Amino acid sequence: MGNKATLIVCASVHHKNTIKIANAISDILEADVIEPKDFDIESISRYDLIGFGSGIYNGKHHESILNLVSSINKQNNKKAFIFSTATIPLEVPHKTLNEMLIEKGFDVIGHFCCKGFMDYSFTKYLFRGLNKGRPNNKDFERARQFAMKIKQTLQASSFS
Ligand SMILES: Cc1cc2nc3c(=O)[nH]c(=O)nc-3n(C[C@H](O)[C@H](O)[C@H](O)COP(=O)(O)O)c2cc1C
Repeated sequence: MGNKATLIVCASVHHKNTIKIANAISDILEADVIEPKDFDIESISRYDLIGFGSGIYNGKHHESILNLVSSINKQNNKKAFIFSTATIPLEVPHKTLNEMLIEKGFDVIGHFCCKGFMDYSFTKYLFRGLNKGRPNNKDFERARQFAMKIKQTLQASSFS
């Protein structure tokens, strides 16, 4: 089995919360981590697995991630995973990106979400922000465990 190259595309614009998760995942998957603006459409064939992540903004991933996925050509079951940080970490806000990736022919093999610090709008004045200190070491450990599972899924699929 050859080495599986992994790319992580991460937009982390509010407090650099999500890039910390991207880095924890990349420690395990030995992935290249880039911002959407540095994504090179031509290089996509080099990767067996692509992770897409950002903070959640009004119930969706950051528009730079959604725009990027819109611009990708149709794939033939290339593996992908989705991650996010948010005030309320749920998989529901992954729906838009998930559907877009499926539409583009990706095989989405995992989702990860965790809390991220938020001090936008009234939360700044009322509470001095929500989810202070998040993501924290426990979140990074969960992210690494998630990456281990993704790695196993990828390895298993290369034998089937
Ligand atoms: C304009 C704005 C809108 C947001 N909308 C949501 C939301 O709909 N749901 C949620 O759980 N968190 C929401 N958040 C919180 C962010 O998802 C959270 O702070 C995230 O960790 C930011 O990640 P980043 O620092 O990597 O950009 C919002 C934050 C901002 C600034």
